[in-house]
Amino acid sequence: MILERRTDHIPTVQKTAAHVRSLFEGEGTGHDWWHVERVWKNALYIAKGEGGDLFVVELAALLHDIADWKFHGGDESVGPQKARAWLESLAVDGATIAHVCEIIADISFKGAGETKRMPTLEGMIVQDADRLDALGAIGIARAFAYGGHKGNPLHNPGEQPQHHETFEQYKKGRGSTVNHFYEKLLLLKNMMNTETAREMAAERHRYMEEYLRQFFLEWDARR
Ligand code: ADP
Ligand code: NI
Repeated sequence: MILERRTDHIPTVQKTAAHVRSLFEGEGTGHDWWHVERVWKNALYIAKGEGGDLFVVELAALLHDIADWKFHGGDESVGPQKARAWLESLAVDGATIAHVCEIIADISFKGAGETKRMPTLEGMIVQDADRLDALGAIGIARAFAYGGHKGNPLHNPGEQPQHHETFEQYKKGRGSTVNHFYEKLLLLKNMMNTETAREMAAERHRYMEEYLRQFFLEWDARR
């Protein structure tokens, strides 16, 4: 299935991309524009395999982390509010705005072990696109960048991965970055919503497993 962008939607998508880019570049807090751009590209790729309303998919992908721009761990309604104000300023139709805002609210939900199921195809696509960016070569780079930012160790031999019951526990975690692979990254493959993303996740998952195999061999001077 190949979806085409509606030409009358292109200016809105482009303006939104420029807007988000300017917000994130101004901040420099680690939630960078390039993550958003990759999620946007992943989402377009997935939508080409799965269908869905491309306008909603593109806008939700671009705006999905807008709450993180300034309000870290803050009020969860901030993201949807910011997105709504922006889309209203562009005179986007009300149904599209409501749908995009619902996706942003659901995606930032991190309560019960991130198990909330996205109610619409477009939401599933954007959630998959975001999760894919935590996997593979990019995912490895992001994990170590995040761990370094937090001052976490690369690896603590003998430390067991933790099962975090709540998002609060998960956020407080000061474990090693290698454990983050077992606590989250290696679980994502089985959490994909769409077949297209599942296929991409399988390859990225395999790459991370190979990376960890090599990591442990080097750690013990066995290679
Ligand atoms: P997103 O911005 O896509 O919603 P997060 O804010 O949850 O995702 O995480 C951003 C990136 O940081 C992801 O690639 C994630 O794997 C990584 N990350 C989150 N927590 C940790 C951790 N404790 N150790 C290492 N990497 C982490
Ligand atoms: Ni994200």
